[in-house]
Amino acid sequence: MTILLTGAAGYIGSHTAVALAEAGYDVAIVDDFSNSSPEAVRRCEALTGKKMPLYEADVADKAAMARIFAETKPAAVIHFAGHKAVGESVAKPLKYYRNNLDTTLSLLECMADAGCKRFIFSSSATVYGAKAAVPYTEESETGGCTNPYGWTKFMIEQIAGGVAKADPAMSVVLLRYFNPVGAHPSGRIGENPSGIPNNLMPYITQVAVGRLPHLNVFGDDYDTPDGTGVRDYIHVVDLAAGHVKALEYALSHTGTEVFNLGTGHGVSVLELVHAFEAATGVKVPYVIAPRRPGDLASVYADCSKAKRVLGWKAEKTVQDMCADSWRWQSNNPNGY
Ligand code: NAD
Ligand code: WQD
Repeated sequence: MTILLTGAAGYIGSHTAVALAEAGYDVAIVDDFSNSSPEAVRRCEALTGKKMPLYEADVADKAAMARIFAETKPAAVIHFAGHKAVGESVAKPLKYYRNNLDTTLSLLECMADAGCKRFIFSSSATVYGAKAAVPYTEESETGGCTNPYGWTKFMIEQIAGGVAKADPAMSVVLLRYFNPVGAHPSGRIGENPSGIPNNLMPYITQVAVGRLPHLNVFGDDYDTPDGTGVRDYIHVVDLAAGHVKALEYALSHTGTEVFNLGTGHGVSVLELVHAFEAATGVKVPYVIAPRRPGDLASVYADCSKAKRVLGWKAEKTVQDMCADSWRWQSNNPNGY
């Protein structure tokens, strides 16, 4: 059974490709390499010993996608492709609305044309916006997003839900990721941000490897135990396992279902820095800097629904996240 993964040359998709191949599925990938390298897919093939047909195409290109559907005949689609930099989305909103919405609309139309009824989408905790109280459950209020990137996720959730409502044979699974970090324990695949990282863990590893002089800790006066921001970091290998469970669910259900994928535990910026130092023995110099606009004090998930319905829960520790991120970064100081 073939599963078509869009954007799986990227960080989360590549780890999911490995998990799906290991679970016995055939994986086909479409990516335009706007934020990734085909080398990631070659490494996924080497790790699993399985071929993963790789198509270079823009997912918004319906003609190209129709050919890919005809060739791969997927039983389900997992849609990772999209732009994801929050700050850039504020500066270039049209780039984000155009790419994230167009890819999804084209994909859903191609799925309808091909009779493919199973759709799993990479949504984000960012859809909870600033209004809901932690821990977020799937019933917490969404919307009120603070940036165009978040709105694209919110809108795509509505679009995919509407498609499932109109077609009773359709299954849509919306996965709201919290803060994915870590890398495959082999150190062969991992997160490969272009330019200066926006996110905390790749920033820490780049300071540790000497590419950046120090970490800026964005605020130490939040209403949290040590004053620094608290997030729900989830190991990308656990997240990938969550996709395998979500796929099994999509293959055997119809309608729309939403799942939070996190650990359910909040970790502060300084806790993560100290955990990284303890796990790797490498110092991470930091300075306290002003708050980053738009940041919330504390974001973490209630993941009980994923456990109850999918039989999934995160297994890996913060130490695993740090050790695996570091193995990837130190083995691949310049990425792929
Ligand atoms: P990533 O940038 O590493 O992967 C996305 C991939 O999509 C890249 O390989 C990129 O080249 C590809 N892509 C983008 N536009 C495309 C297009 N038009 N056609 C074909 N390919 C295209 O990002 P990631 O961290 O692996 O994230 C995967 C998904 O998960 C994204 O949708 C992202 O918004 C979502 N997400 C990520 C996080 C996170 O913190 N990493 C959190 C929540 C949700
Ligand atoms: C984590 C914590 C920062 C960098 C973002 C998106 C979200 C989702 C995941 C896609 C915060 C602090 C960070 C630094 C710091 N992505 N920090 N110094 O903002 O929780 O979530 O990625 O869907 O939508 O918004 O993640 O890793 O940027 O920040 O002190 O150099 O680390 O203030 O408290 P965030 P992050």
